[in-house]
Amino acid sequence: MTNVRTLGPEIVVAPPGPRSRELGDLVNELECPAFSTRRKSRTESSQLPFVIERGAGSFLFDVDGNRYVDLASGFGAASFGHGPSVVHQRAAEQALQLVQGLGDLLPTAVKVELMRRLTALHPDPHAKVLLGQSGADAVTAAIKTACLASGKSGLVAFEGSYHGLSYAPLAACGFQPSFRAPFHEQLNPNVSFAPFPTSEADLEETLSVVERALELGNVGALLVEPVLGRGGVLVPPRAFLPRLAELTTRSGALLIVDEIWTGMGRSGALSLSLEQGVSPDLLCFGKALGASFPISACIGSERAMAAWARSGQVVHTSTHAGAPLGCAAALAVLDQLADGEVVRAVKTHSDAFRRDAAATLAPFGVEVRGVGWMVGLALPDAVSGRTVFSQLLARGYVTTLGGANGQVIVLTPQLLIEPELTAGFLEAFTSVLAEGGAQA
Ligand SMILES: Cc1ncc(COP(=O)(O)O)c(C=O)c1O
Repeated sequence: MTNVRTLGPEIVVAPPGPRSRELGDLVNELECPAFSTRRKSRTESSQLPFVIERGAGSFLFDVDGNRYVDLASGFGAASFGHGPSVVHQRAAEQALQLVQGLGDLLPTAVKVELMRRLTALHPDPHAKVLLGQSGADAVTAAIKTACLASGKSGLVAFEGSYHGLSYAPLAACGFQPSFRAPFHEQLNPNVSFAPFPTSEADLEETLSVVERALELGNVGALLVEPVLGRGGVLVPPRAFLPRLAELTTRSGALLIVDEIWTGMGRSGALSLSLEQGVSPDLLCFGKALGASFPISACIGSERAMAAWARSGQVVHTSTHAGAPLGCAAALAVLDQLADGEVVRAVKTHSDAFRRDAAATLAPFGVEVRGVGWMVGLALPDAVSGRTVFSQLLARGYVTTLGGANGQVIVLTPQLLIEPELTAGFLEAFTSVLAEGGAQA
């Protein structure tokens, strides 16, 4: 009998099919160009590639009946697939009990339990947590906390880094300076950028740039991704985070580690910084924390978080912060990750995939990089990222594009993606390259 879970894609009508075109035209008519401009820069026509109707496990289905293998999984958020999963089950049970608490005034039991579990991850036994809905929320909470705790507004961030687009993280967006430029006058002017290191030689240069910035005296925090995600899946030398931690400890600045992409199993660890023995003053999780349900967390040391108590009437809250569905989903995620089996499976399968991919793709000049199920396939300049992305979609594989020039095909599949599906992807990717239609 055929195994439905490993069938692979099925394209019954070339995307975009008629219904996708119809809905896509409506999207272009109705949606603010803040969204559509980016889409157009990623695909080759102004037409949407397809419109999603539903998902199941590792698959997405479009409104025209095509089945795709989803190697993007909601930018890494759908870490246990599109359901039904234990996470969906837990959220569904919660939905029958209570969906809305009363923010900072009347907490819910499910939020208390989640806070207990999240703070227990941090090495400080008296750690505290601020919950939010998005990654940008968590980073904003961290930046505000660092400002209060240090009394300094300055921030050191990294070239190529991405922390979300609300104003506090936007000021620290090293990914595309053009994202910041029009808002320049409304953003924190005290942010400087250091190069993100990808080799031992780069590391020393980076550390000296950071050290010089810290010496200026107005820097309250250093904000860093353990692996550059959207910036093109760039993995720094192993000593990077520990050396940054030494510098911040010495200078008194706070270390904010943004594990919104790397965290909760995606990188093959619950948290890369904690696994490396680093104790961030502020540690941010999002995306996979809720496995599709919107929830994020900024976990901080007692020392850092105590600054809020000293600051009199200043508060940080929002209507849906710590909302019950997200909390229930996050608890299910933490349960799933608790015994380490999922994380071990992520490591084993993704390492094997990277080995196969490196061997298969070397003749095409593709560099394979990443950790866990954050995979970057960096294309040579002569091959167009947009074209490869579109041709993969036409074959039924959903990926995303990373790196400043969109030259990196990024894979962030669900954590337990079936090996047959990633093997099928590699074949499809190889045939796209071999057919040569993607030359820039
Ligand atoms: C490392 C990192 N931080 C923060 C964010 C922002 O998260 P969100 O889009 O949920 O605001 C992202 C999103 O891609 C991210 O990759």
